[in-house]
Amino acid sequence: RLVNTVDDPQTKKAFDTEMQSFFYLFTRYLAERAQNHDLDWDRIKSPGEDQIVPYSSLTPPKDTSALNKLAVLKVNGGLGTSMGMTGAKSALEVKDDMTFLDLTVRQIEHLNTTNKVDVPLILMTSFNTHEDTLRIIKKYANQQLRITTFNQSRYPRIFKESLLPCPKTADDDKKNWYPPGHGDLYNALLHSGVLDQLISEGKEYLFVSNSDNLGAVVDQSILQHMIDTQAEFLMEVTDKTKADIKGGTLVDYEGSIRLLEVAQVPSEHVEDFKSVRKFKIFNTNNIWINLQALKRIMEQDSMDLEIIINPKQTDDGQAVIQLETAAGAAIKHFKGAHGINVPRSRFLPVKSCSDLLLIKSDIYSLEHGELVINPSRMFENTPVIKLGDHFKKIQQFQKRFKKIPKVLELDHLTVTGDVYFGRNVTLRGTVIIVANEGQRIDIPDGCILENRLLSGNLNM
Ligand code: UTP
Repeated sequence: RLVNTVDDPQTKKAFDTEMQSFFYLFTRYLAERAQNHDLDWDRIKSPGEDQIVPYSSLTPPKDTSALNKLAVLKVNGGLGTSMGMTGAKSALEVKDDMTFLDLTVRQIEHLNTTNKVDVPLILMTSFNTHEDTLRIIKKYANQQLRITTFNQSRYPRIFKESLLPCPKTADDDKKNWYPPGHGDLYNALLHSGVLDQLISEGKEYLFVSNSDNLGAVVDQSILQHMIDTQAEFLMEVTDKTKADIKGGTLVDYEGSIRLLEVAQVPSEHVEDFKSVRKFKIFNTNNIWINLQALKRIMEQDSMDLEIIINPKQTDDGQAVIQLETAAGAAIKHFKGAHGINVPRSRFLPVKSCSDLLLIKSDIYSLEHGELVINPSRMFENTPVIKLGDHFKKIQQFQKRFKKIPKVLELDHLTVTGDVYFGRNVTLRGTVIIVANEGQRIDIPDGCILENRLLSGNLNM
């Protein structure tokens, strides 16, 4: 049992509510573990044609009035641990000294001014990202755009063997807690009061997306489709390529639509899951939700989402688990829910420093916070960039590029080993740079590399 050492009654109550939700999730986890509740793989089918609607079949609305019923929410509680981040990923500067959050603000301000509407921006933060987020948005306090933030839950990590919680008290060290995935959105919306606030303001629809996905701009055709079909939930999916092994996919499970995440796939079927043949699309995490329907489901207490067990290690090497959930898993609870197959341009996340390099580069320019491909790029596709492990962590990435190279005419870049880039470097065609173990390559200021393979201990 965790000791509630909090004095302030309101904080104490919030903590108790949070622990109740955690306890409910943990009890479900224990029950499922005991019953060995695995999905029956043979019953999983590709979704039917009516379950995934092509974006090209949608038509834009005649007027913009539906926007008055819309709110936009960014899930912003994660750290981007794969990039070694210890603060909010959305606080990274992307372009023209603007962070992901600044660009999102630009996008919505532009939507509001061009359509003369008042779409509010809601940010879900976690104890890991709250301060970073407030620091960035405080400069918008006197602007017209309404920005609301609310904190998602903070759950205790659990020791894998003993199943005991890592923290001993409510104010125990930060590293003993975790934000339980973006599926926590629904609980956090309800308990923070933001769900009721939105409904009381006359908002009917909520567009949710990842805070690092600059492609997730409000799309009025999708909103209109939601209204026309009265679907309570829409998930934007996009065609999978061989490189997309992370995202969940939509499947038909005994006649109903479900999100299937890799964590739920029995190990002998993981290769099947990753293949593009059976599972052709994946979840972009751009989600449209009917707020009244959400409230109904929350009140009936049936928003159970598949539990994702995220194994981690403590600093001293002990195995712990985090019980998490994904927002898209909620699809099975809503009426008329289905997928929309959208163009890839609506999914431009930054999952790695290679993605960050591309987005920061001259391949993209900004228009009202939106990334647009530079018209001078002669090819339709963007370059394939593979930065090696030396560039994995954001601090390394920032140290290794004095300035982002010009890549407008680049097709493919692979960098392996201890490599540093100077200022005003231009990369064209296919460029491969390999510094072998114990060697270092410095690409000097002003260097132009076109269809070059550099390797060894090179001091140019
Ligand atoms: P992910 O955790 O799926 O991917 O978060 P990521 O951001 O690449 O992070 P790592 O590298 O796997 O750790 C997707 C979105 O969900 C939010 C994140 O902030 C991001 O916008 N998120 C994630 C939350 O809001 N809360 C969470 O508990 C986890």
